[in-house]
Amino acid sequence: MKILKSLVGRLTCLYLFFNLILLVSIGFVLYFIGKESMLVGAKQYLVDEVYIIQSLLNQAPGDLDFILGEINGVPEALKNASYHYFIKITKTDKKLFIKTPGFPEELNENIFPRVNVEKWEKQIRQVRVDNKNYLLISAPIVINKLTGSTGFIYVALDITYHEFLINQFIKILLLIIVVGAMFSAVFGYFLSSKGISPLQKIVMATEKIEIDKLNLRIDYKKWPAELEVVASEFNKMLDRIEQAVNTLSRCVMELAHEIRTPIHNLIGETDYILTKQRSTAEYQHVLESNLEEYRRLSEIIDSILFLARSSEPKRQLTFSSFSVQDEVKHILEFYDAIAVEKNITVACNGYAELNADLTLFRRVIQNILSNAFRYAKDNGYVCVDINRETSESINIVISDNGIGMSEKDLSHIFEYFYRSEESKLVYPEGVGLGLTIVKTIMELHQGSINIKSIPNKGTQVTLLFPI
Ligand SMILES: Nc1ncnc2c1ncn2[C@@H]1O[C@H](COP(=O)(O)OP(=O)(O)O)[C@@H](O)[C@H]1O
Ligand SMILES: [Mg+2]
Repeated sequence: MKILKSLVGRLTCLYLFFNLILLVSIGFVLYFIGKESMLVGAKQYLVDEVYIIQSLLNQAPGDLDFILGEINGVPEALKNASYHYFIKITKTDKKLFIKTPGFPEELNENIFPRVNVEKWEKQIRQVRVDNKNYLLISAPIVINKLTGSTGFIYVALDITYHEFLINQFIKILLLIIVVGAMFSAVFGYFLSSKGISPLQKIVMATEKIEIDKLNLRIDYKKWPAELEVVASEFNKMLDRIEQAVNTLSRCVMELAHEIRTPIHNLIGETDYILTKQRSTAEYQHVLESNLEEYRRLSEIIDSILFLARSSEPKRQLTFSSFSVQDEVKHILEFYDAIAVEKNITVACNGYAELNADLTLFRRVIQNILSNAFRYAKDNGYVCVDINRETSESINIVISDNGIGMSEKDLSHIFEYFYRSEESKLVYPEGVGLGLTIVKTIMELHQGSINIKSIPNKGTQVTLLFPI
């Protein structure tokens, strides 16, 4: 149902439903109380009437005229009263003793309850005859206490008017329920629309947010507490999206910038070499220099691809156990040539067994060692210390006494393509993605990387792998 899809519709229906239950239950209670009290009153009236007649008969035993006068006098006095009643007294031989005028012919003795000497007060019967409702009672009676003559008394009470009143009452109740339901539907609609109006504000606020207006936030100061949470979470989500979009666009810009330089170099060199016929040596030289630019381009693309894949939620790691020292020593062998060339002292201390993705672990160590050797000074050192300090983690500390970095450089070091000015002079071919990759790999392993550095003194990179 369409109406139940809307929150206002649901709240209105709920409100209407509970109000209807309330109205109907109150109606039922009122109806039963009214009807019962009317019946109880009327029944008591009948029983009292029997006692009154008996006491009249006791006052004037057998005096027919006195009794009739008294009985007829009563309806006269009660003409406008709500009860109309009729009395008939028969003797034991069924002979009529007294009958009030207008006693309905249809009400013969068989319709009345059978006279029960002990329980006559309880045996009141309700009948409908000729479109009229009667309460009937029959009781034994002493007609003349002097002669000892007895008989039966039959009293009929016309309660048609009361039935009519009760029916009117039901109609009014139904009317009240219908009108009440209509009112509560309108009121419920009004209340729920008002209650959820802040949601409308969320919708309006979200409509304004575009990719170039991600700095907009919802102002929820005057909102209800429940919606304040929604709005605040929504704002936090916008913070994250804004940050991610900014990082992405910065990365795209830097990527374009990084790629532009090698491409320009390639175009420039190729243009120049093609201006006239060249010797084989010249062609070879240009191709070799081009090859370097191709390698750089390829490295940039590989790194960007790796970073993009690492941020995929389904990124799976293949864990295996290996000796950290063996792996580090194996990688260090690749730097033998540069170590000899720069006269760098190399050391690897400590031992630990690690459970990690081996390919990614090698990439981490390679990236950090390549920086250490690249930015190390002649006659310096590169040292790897492996510790298992606590039972929860393995520390690998790689230190060098190279060019180091300033505080400012350290604060940007994990950004895409960030490189210090000094490093650009020492090694112009660098890309500035190595440490970003290392950080990503450490996060994939729930580990961390911490770098300490002093300009011209050296750098210390600490990797922490959880066990
Ligand atoms: N051991 C180090 N000594 C001095 N500077 C370093 C060292 N390691 C990293 N850096 C600085 O961090 C920057 C980023 O490193 P990285 O992401 O590996 O990129 P790249 O090695 O391509 O320059 C380097 O350009 C350099 O400025
Ligand atoms: Mg590097």
